[in-house]
Amino acid sequence: MTDVYTIPAWRGSPADMTGTTALVVGGAGGVGEGVVRALLSAGAKVVVGGRDQGRLDAFSARLRTDGADVSQLTTAVLDGLSADLGPTVQSLVTEHGRFDVAVVSVASWGDQGRKPLLALSDEEWDALVAANQTVVFRLYRALVPALARTGSLVQLNGMSADIPFPGAGGVASAAAATKSLTRTLAAELGSRGPRVYEMVLGVVRTRARQLAGVDDNRWIDGTQIGEHVAELATAVSPLTGTVLQYFVDKVAGPQATPPQD
Ligand SMILES: NC(=O)c1ccc[n+]([C@@H]2O[C@H](COP(=O)([O-])OP(=O)(O)OC[C@H]3O[C@@H](n4cnc5c(N)ncnc54)[C@H](OP(=O)(O)O)[C@@H]3O)[C@@H](O)[C@H]2O)c1
Repeated sequence: MTDVYTIPAWRGSPADMTGTTALVVGGAGGVGEGVVRALLSAGAKVVVGGRDQGRLDAFSARLRTDGADVSQLTTAVLDGLSADLGPTVQSLVTEHGRFDVAVVSVASWGDQGRKPLLALSDEEWDALVAANQTVVFRLYRALVPALARTGSLVQLNGMSADIPFPGAGGVASAAAATKSLTRTLAAELGSRGPRVYEMVLGVVRTRARQLAGVDDNRWIDGTQIGEHVAELATAVSPLTGTVLQYFVDKVAGPQATPPQD
């Protein structure tokens, strides 16, 4: 199958993020990896946040082995649910200055596996809400003060924010809730704070899927999401003024409206 992706007509030359600093929470994850690669390619200094130094080290090593320029890549242990999140983010600001863009790309499927909604125990429900909803709230509370006034905050979310997801009701309800959180934050900040974006994504070609032999070149590449993030961060995207965005179709690219079918 040939790659059907063509650079959308609205895209100009790639965004130049030279001199800017990005924080990507969940940057070593499936979607985050492509975002990190694209932001590095755009010239940004990139800090990747995640909960485990070993996983972060393995991620950096893989990028280096793949030939990526990692001279501007650093990692930071950061847990969105930890009591020391605020001080941890503050110490990153002390080290790097306020961030020009922060990307929240976190998810957790939980340990319960696929289950119908009503089969979830209270403990499973609470864990899913904490890991997928509370974490985003806590990250926003810590990250907004860590952003430059002219900076951007981007949440990467899935279509389960809008549509049913049988067998993953806890994850889906958190996706809908965090879409709401993000839009509320954008409305509350208005033009007085960093620009806030909710980016609802279609299926992404992740390394984990590819390792499992599941891939389709019609799916979105993580780097394309990162290229769009770079265009939003540098305010060169036509969607710079649009809070709620859908990047569901690789050919159509990012849109201000959900898929119509
Ligand atoms: N994969 C897709 O096809 C797809 C499609 C559409 C939308 N999305 C959306 O993209 C986002 C990321 O999904 P993904 O597929 O990349 O998931 P993933 O591969 O599981 O990655 C999630 C990342 O989040 C980090 N993380 C989880 N909990 C955290 C916490 N408390 N504090 C800090 N970091 C935490 C994980 O790092 P550690 O475990 O090392 O901390 C991991 O790097 C989600 O919002 C998802 O809905 C994904």
